[in-house]
Amino acid sequence: MERIRIEPVKNFVRRLSVPSDKSLTHRAFMLASVSSGRCFVGRPLLSRDCLSTKACLEACGVGFEKAEGGFFIKGGLREPEDVLDAGNSGTTARLLMGLLSGYPFFFVITGDESLRKRPMRRVVEPLSLMGASFMGRNDAERLPIACRGGKLRGISYKTKVASAQVKSAILLAGMRAEGATVVEEPFKSRDHTERMLKALGGDVEVKGLRVKLKPFVPFSFSFEVPGDPSSAAYWVAAAVLIPGSHVVVEGVLLNPTRISFFEALREMGADVSWEIEEERLGEPVGVVEARYTPYLKGIVIGKERLPSMIDEMPLLCLVASFAEGETVVKDAGELRVKESDRISSTVSELKRLGVDIEELSDGMVVRGPSPPKGGRCFSHRDHRIAMMLAVAGLASREGVEIEEPQWVSISYPDFFEVLEG
Ligand code: S3P
Repeated sequence: MERIRIEPVKNFVRRLSVPSDKSLTHRAFMLASVSSGRCFVGRPLLSRDCLSTKACLEACGVGFEKAEGGFFIKGGLREPEDVLDAGNSGTTARLLMGLLSGYPFFFVITGDESLRKRPMRRVVEPLSLMGASFMGRNDAERLPIACRGGKLRGISYKTKVASAQVKSAILLAGMRAEGATVVEEPFKSRDHTERMLKALGGDVEVKGLRVKLKPFVPFSFSFEVPGDPSSAAYWVAAAVLIPGSHVVVEGVLLNPTRISFFEALREMGADVSWEIEEERLGEPVGVVEARYTPYLKGIVIGKERLPSMIDEMPLLCLVASFAEGETVVKDAGELRVKESDRISSTVSELKRLGVDIEELSDGMVVRGPSPPKGGRCFSHRDHRIAMMLAVAGLASREGVEIEEPQWVSISYPDFFEVLEG
């Protein structure tokens, strides 16, 4: 699929579930691989990113046995014989560096054109302090990176960026380090790793922005992965923006470090609500509901809540174009090192559709209301940009044509089938 045209719709009324959470699927696959016995991961996300993690773990000797509704996973890692390919997935590359560096293996990780441009020293630096050694392009800033793992020691480390991938890499390495490992981040990023490690028997202490972990081997477990709130976000936004719409998404992960987008919509005045119904491996799960809201107002997003809605920022800019007044996103330089430079890709594509949006060095300003009229645009080979542009098309006046929309398969393989249904 090289091009798709999304026509405006009169309304968007759906009750649906979304694909399983990407972050939790990566973590469940990795922790099953080092647990004390056979695990079951139910309803894993089988998108391209998560399949990259699965293939890398298989190359390290992990057995994935397909069963009704998921996989039985038999752990036990061995040194991979060939280069591990993380594809487009930063989570795969960074978390695997942490997971594998505690073993006496030599391994090399690479990725696709986009991933090979993304910063890696943020994980290489703390893992080196723990005792692993790395070599790679640009002083191990860029993939491919080679690592010699082995005996690690626990460290106390303050991360420069609020990144769950960095925090998680350090904690995964900490499972096999001598002594305690402490990570402190400048702002709270998604906390799935620490929740899971605790639920699987780890001695994990969380105090504000600081996580402390003692070495341990996770219990074997059975886990049904809940729906991804970042995927639900597209339908929630469609409901809010298109007159007469109403969407209910069931079985969604409602971890507080993942729902800032829904909270921000509420702050803009949108009719969005959610309710927790159960807990799975320490993670709250429930239902999200959204309705068309004729009046929205602009808001300011700064560095405190950016990490908990980092993947939803392109979509937030689209919503902001329907709102009265200015929406300002600042201190958001991290957006430039995602699958695409999401400041420049969001700004250039929304501009092409007629939105009044301006690029800042570390963010953007949207002046509304200036909703998308329509036109041709490009996904920048970034799944989140492709899906945001599709919602823009549904809510536009004249429809939107997207070049290279197939990148949705990174996190939401049947996105366009759901949209058409
Ligand atoms: C993820 C963390 C985020 C996010 C990515 C998934 C994770 O990256 O953008 O899609 O699963 O830990 P950073 O933590 O590097 O911001």
